[in-house]
Amino acid sequence: MTESTTPMFEIENLHASIDDKEILRGVDLTINMGEIHALMGPNGSGKSTLAYVIAGHPSYEVTEGSIKYFGEDILEMEPDERARKGLFLAFQYPTVIPGVSMANFLRMAVTSVRNARADAAAVNGGAVERMAPREFRRLMKEKMSLLKMDDSFATRYLNEGFSGGEKKRAEILQMALLEPTMAVLDETDSGLDIDALKVVSEGVNALAGKEMGVLLITHYQRLLNFIKPDHVHIMLEGRIAQSGGPELAHELEAKGYEGLRAQHATAIA
Ligand SMILES: Nc1ncnc2c1ncn2[C@@H]1O[C@H](COP(=O)(O)OP(=O)(O)OP(=O)(O)O)[C@@H](O)[C@H]1O
Ligand SMILES: [Mg+2]
Repeated sequence: MTESTTPMFEIENLHASIDDKEILRGVDLTINMGEIHALMGPNGSGKSTLAYVIAGHPSYEVTEGSIKYFGEDILEMEPDERARKGLFLAFQYPTVIPGVSMANFLRMAVTSVRNARADAAAVNGGAVERMAPREFRRLMKEKMSLLKMDDSFATRYLNEGFSGGEKKRAEILQMALLEPTMAVLDETDSGLDIDALKVVSEGVNALAGKEMGVLLITHYQRLLNFIKPDHVHIMLEGRIAQSGGPELAHELEAKGYEGLRAQHATAIA
C-alpha cells in the first residue's frame, strides 16, 4: 500500500447543535476532487444542517469533530473566507434581497472570490488575472446563455418574484461564475420542471469534471439520472447510516426509508 494523500474534503466525527439540540451526531464523509456524492435521507435527518455547518452558518455550534479542506481546518474560518477558498453552498431556500440586482450581487461576489484567488496565486508567483467589469459582463452573458436564462434576469432584484425554478437556476448561475472547488447543492432539483432539471444538471455536469467536488443533497433518484453520483450516502438521525454506489438510490426508491431503517437496525443489533 502506498501512503494516502490528503483528501480534498474530509469530515470526521462531526457533531453540531442548534439551541442546545444536537442535530449532527457523528458525521464522517470524505470527498475527493472530481467526485460527485449524493446525500439522501428523510426530512429532518440533518442534511441541510450539514450544508449550513460546512458553509459556516453562525447559528450552529460544532461541539465535536472536524472539517478539513485540503488539510486545513475550515471550522476556524469565517464564512466569507471559506467562500474565497472555493467552497460554495446553494441553499435549499434562497433568500430574497430586494434592492440588489442579480448582476450587482454576482459581480460583487464573483470579483471578491476571483480576486482573492488571483492575489493568492500572485503570492505564489502565479498569474491569475484580476477581473475587470467588462470581463465580468462577458462571462455572465456566457454562463446565462449556457443555463438558458433570459437576459432580463440580470437587472432584476435578487430572487424577488423569482419562481422556485428560477431561484434554483440563479444559484447555479452563481456557481458557474464562482467556479468553486467544492460545491454543496441543497435540493437544487426541488421545484424544477423537467426541462429546467436538464439545464441545471447540464450546468452541474459541465462544472463537475475534474476540477470540483460536489455534495448533492436530494430526495429524488430522478436527479441522479441526470447527474451521475460516484457515491450515495443515506443520512438517518444525524449520521450517515449507509453508503454505496448509485444502486443505493434505486434500492431506496424501491424500499423507502423504513426498509433501510429496519435493515440498519438489524445490522447494528
Ligand atoms: N433553529 C432550529 N431550532 C430547533 N431545531 C432546529 C432548528 N433548525 C433545524 N432544526 C431541526 O434540525 C433537524 C434537522 O433539520 P434539517 O433542516 O437539517 O433536515 P433536512 O435533512 O435538511 O430535512 P429536509 O429533507 O426536510 O430538508 C430537524 O429536526 C429540525 O427541526
Ligand atoms: Mg433540508
